[in-house]
Amino acid sequence: MAEPQQQPLPMDLQQAACSGPLKKRPRQTDAPVASTPHNIKFQDLVLFILEKKMGTTRRTFLMELARRKGFRVENELSDSVTHIVAENNSGSDVLEWLQVQKIKASSQLELLDVSWLIECMGAGKPVEMTGKHQLVVERGFSASPDPGHQMTLPLPVKKISPYSCQRRTTLNNQNQIFTDAFEVLAEDCEFRENEMSYLVFARAASVLKSLPFTIISVKETEGIPWLQGKARCVIEEIIEDGESSEVNAVLNNERYKSFKLFTSIFGVGLKTSEKWFRMGFRTLSQIQSNKSLKFTHMQKAGFLYYEDLVSRVARAEAEAVSLLVQEAVWAFLPDAIITMTGGFRRGKNVGHDVDFLITSPESTEDEEQLLPKVINLWEKEGLLLYCDLVESTFEKFRIPSRNVDTLDHFQKCFLILKLPYERVDSAKSSQQEGKTWKAIRVDLVMCPYQCYAFALLGWTGSRQFERDIRRYASHERKMILDNHALYDKTERMFLPAESEEEIFAHLGLDYIEPWERNA
Ligand code: CTP
Ligand code: MN
Ligand code: MN
Repeated sequence: MAEPQQQPLPMDLQQAACSGPLKKRPRQTDAPVASTPHNIKFQDLVLFILEKKMGTTRRTFLMELARRKGFRVENELSDSVTHIVAENNSGSDVLEWLQVQKIKASSQLELLDVSWLIECMGAGKPVEMTGKHQLVVERGFSASPDPGHQMTLPLPVKKISPYSCQRRTTLNNQNQIFTDAFEVLAEDCEFRENEMSYLVFARAASVLKSLPFTIISVKETEGIPWLQGKARCVIEEIIEDGESSEVNAVLNNERYKSFKLFTSIFGVGLKTSEKWFRMGFRTLSQIQSNKSLKFTHMQKAGFLYYEDLVSRVARAEAEAVSLLVQEAVWAFLPDAIITMTGGFRRGKNVGHDVDFLITSPESTEDEEQLLPKVINLWEKEGLLLYCDLVESTFEKFRIPSRNVDTLDHFQKCFLILKLPYERVDSAKSSQQEGKTWKAIRVDLVMCPYQCYAFALLGWTGSRQFERDIRRYASHERKMILDNHALYDKTERMFLPAESEEEIFAHLGLDYIEPWERNA
């Protein structure tokens, strides 16, 4: 659902922003492959690096390095952490810190000196932990402090921002019991086109996902934005009864169930769902066997590949698609930069589709021809199951679009590709016996080079994150951000950017990494 405040830039201004000469390439960190940044190679280890006595800069550097080497590093201390790494701290120092944080250290938790992490970085894998790495807990240190001497240091309470672009939201959701409930309620509002209520629930779910702890008492929601009123009642009920009666009512509601089913078909949106629901249809077979219904090409494809498309895309499949895209794109435009965006860039391991952003530093005529050529090639190879090519409205368009679904004016195609299983890393895929291929939804977007950073930010999501960063830009900075550009209304000028970091800097925001945008 589109945010009401979200308005496209006037087209002439967009063009101005995207046509100046550009000297440097966009940051190449994501570019070379469409693979995701920071794949986790060592699943058994969950690291937390202690900032105390180490400092923020060094900590950030080490976290980034370790992540690049395939380690899972948490921003916040949570139950899932297995190894705490510290510098210039004794084991007792670390335990004391944990107590102040009111965190019980489990006996399995490893307390290690930074020298261990540095050796791991050198080796590119976890090295054995020996006595010289393990932090010593002084004798006489009591793991549970004597109640008379309970430490009462006030915890620095960081205020949680109402904007998800000022929060770090990883996939480590500590409040899934609540967020699942809010997502059902939000979806129900979406089906009813009740935008106000949709936002109440979507924002509650979003802020809960960013919390480093699980809410166990409704008192803990105090001071957290978007968790008052209606949202608070839902949380309270779930804490007390283990479930929400309102959510149960929605899940059992005929209209919700039908909309959920109908919109799971590629090409079916709210309008068609409403029509079919009113006509009395409740199952897919009723719809498919009805002779009087007319289906669009998209819907026909949606029915044809229904099972594959609802089964969702695994990361190994996304990687295989990525290779297909690279082979085809580079055959025609060797210097093209291809980036996997969407949920996979945010570190998700499953998605409903695979999204790619493509650009080229040499702006030529070829650029416009690229997607048609790629589609043609796949067609010849028998890999193309469905294709909807949307031509760019970038130059031609004058009046800003009123269509809320048209989020940008780039040339793009919405595809269904036939992915041969032989191209998928078989160890990691979930292929079915006897089947030799799977239908996969793929989105390809082609953007002018000057818009790359903006398009990347826009196509990485999540949707809630995008909504909030745009809302933040307009409400807090009097700027307009969209997938093409950033416009400063006070200065009456465009603020160009070559990287996402620069866009955040223009907005006065701390940089939020893609895998922290799962709002
Ligand atoms: N997007 C956009 N314009 C569109 C469609 C999508 O800018 N016409 C952006 C959205 O902001 C979204 C991102 O592209 O965050 C990816 O969209 P989508 O594939 O729908 O969502 P994902 O987050 O990738 O979720 P999934 O894993 O289910 O695919
Ligand atoms: Mn996606
Ligand atoms: Mn998509």
